[in-house]
Amino acid sequence: MPRINSPAELEDLRKGILSHKAPDKPCIAICAGTNCLALGNQEVIRAFKEELKKQSLEDKVDIRATGCHGLCERGPNVLIYPQEVYYIEVSPEDVPEIIAETVLGKKVIDRLLYTDPDTGEKAVHQSDIPFYKKQTRMIINTNTMIDPKRIDDFLAIGGYSALSKALFEMTPEAVLDEIKKANLRGRGGGGFPAGLKWETARNAPGDQKYVIINGHEGEPGAFMDRAIFTGNPHNVLEGFIIGAYAIGASQGFIYTRHDMPQLKENIYTALAQAEEYGLLGDNILGSGFNFHIEVHFDVGIFVSGESSALMRSIEGKNPEPRPKYIRTSVSGIWDKPSNLNNVETWANVPQIINKGHEWYTSIGTERSKGTKLVSVSGHVNNTAVVEVPMGTTLREIVFDICGGLPNGKKLKAVHFGGAMGGSIPENLLDTPLDFDALSGLGATMGAGGMLVLDEDTSMVEMTRTLLDFLSKESCGKCVPCREGVRQMLKVYNRLCEGKGKPGDIELLEDLCDVSKKASLCSLGRTAYSPVASTLRFFREEYEEKIVQ
Ligand SMILES: Cc1cc2nc3c(=O)[nH]c(=O)nc-3n(C[C@H](O)[C@H](O)[C@H](O)COP(=O)(O)O)c2cc1C
Ligand code: FES
Repeated sequence: MPRINSPAELEDLRKGILSHKAPDKPCIAICAGTNCLALGNQEVIRAFKEELKKQSLEDKVDIRATGCHGLCERGPNVLIYPQEVYYIEVSPEDVPEIIAETVLGKKVIDRLLYTDPDTGEKAVHQSDIPFYKKQTRMIINTNTMIDPKRIDDFLAIGGYSALSKALFEMTPEAVLDEIKKANLRGRGGGGFPAGLKWETARNAPGDQKYVIINGHEGEPGAFMDRAIFTGNPHNVLEGFIIGAYAIGASQGFIYTRHDMPQLKENIYTALAQAEEYGLLGDNILGSGFNFHIEVHFDVGIFVSGESSALMRSIEGKNPEPRPKYIRTSVSGIWDKPSNLNNVETWANVPQIINKGHEWYTSIGTERSKGTKLVSVSGHVNNTAVVEVPMGTTLREIVFDICGGLPNGKKLKAVHFGGAMGGSIPENLLDTPLDFDALSGLGATMGAGGMLVLDEDTSMVEMTRTLLDFLSKESCGKCVPCREGVRQMLKVYNRLCEGKGKPGDIELLEDLCDVSKKASLCSLGRTAYSPVASTLRFFREEYEEKIVQ
């Protein structure tokens, strides 16, 4: 790989890559995402490779093992370019027919198309499937266009042009200003404005600054960060390097899951390739800017995704949180200013730099801009990774995009934001996806995990499961969280065994109040959310469980 020493050389390289790509050359993009992996995509990929070899078609047809396509429930999914014919639930036995009929014969195999369960209509192209039609996929859409292990695929779709623009056409202050004007809010939980956080770290005293990608994604039911990071790691890295330039950091850390071999492999491959091209390391693109990245793996406990605990973990200590009054942007890893953002937050940065804040702020609601990735699971027809503009209603996500609930069941609620999130009843389903609208209902956006619950769900039992998780995951450092959550769980166990006592609801309310006010970190401070939201909207279910 040649080292790239200037924006002109980057553009020449891009042109060279594109000149070798015939636009009409067939390409079979097979989802190699986590869910399709469980559904047997490796055998499908192998079958395609073998069949092309058998027919001596390796030079005439490209194969691309890609990241998640989003429609995880219906995998393994296969998208055939240039016609963009989309096949679902593909098995190795279908492969010879796909090559003969669709790739060579340009004919569509009806059996493998998506069928709309309501109308019975078949969708030939990906864009005809209601699931895709109703989304705005400006981050996750690139997953089908690239092989995450080939940096050239990313360069071919314009990758690293935002980095080049930032380094050569913008000062760090101008980059920061663009992110502030775009009002990019953090996608990892709190929705804090990224620009303000960057500015605090940039202006904090000390020359050594750190930047971090939070790729821990321990929230139950959340799987979109790994869909972005595994499927298009360079998109995240590009945003990260731009952020480091704006903040003035020469060292970055990726903190991610230890138990995802594919994610690990794709991150390491992307880092090595970016470094070889001179897009990372010393004197990036010949600009004089130096930036190095280290990868750290979590220890498998939920709280290590909390910002201060994560920084302790990077220091080699136990991932225990610190009190929030010490701001990590000013005093983080080894007490140096450290800016941490979620995977999806970083992934938004290149497009903001390329297209500008005005474009970005034209998408979304008044106070929540851009799109949001949501991972949808539970009692829903399409378990999926969805990307929609902020402001899309929860009803649209569940019914129009994810195909509603199976077995004709009615919807009772959606639980948003993982274990520390809240439940929203069916009659409020027209609530827009918006940081403030959700938190107004006691259900924070969290990282965007959405659990669909049907009419048969016991909200008390569902909340018990979440508290069981939280009580095991509390790091135990502070009493209100360690004991408070455990005491709440005791009450839930009692309620679920049919032994609820008068006063239990009031006791839960008191415990919520104490853990919310007195806990050290957001785990304890927001553990009350599932309790408070289900007490607010489903109180009668609690009352029924109390034996008078
Ligand atoms: C217990 C706990 C676990 C968390 N886990 C994650 C996580 O896995 N990924 C993440 O991005 N943020 C997680 N957060 C939120 C982070 O502390 C932090 O607010 C966020 O990563 C900041 O990035 P953002 O501003 O881009 O959202 C967690 C918070 C808590 C309290
Ligand atoms: S993992 Fe294949 S579509 Fe999500």
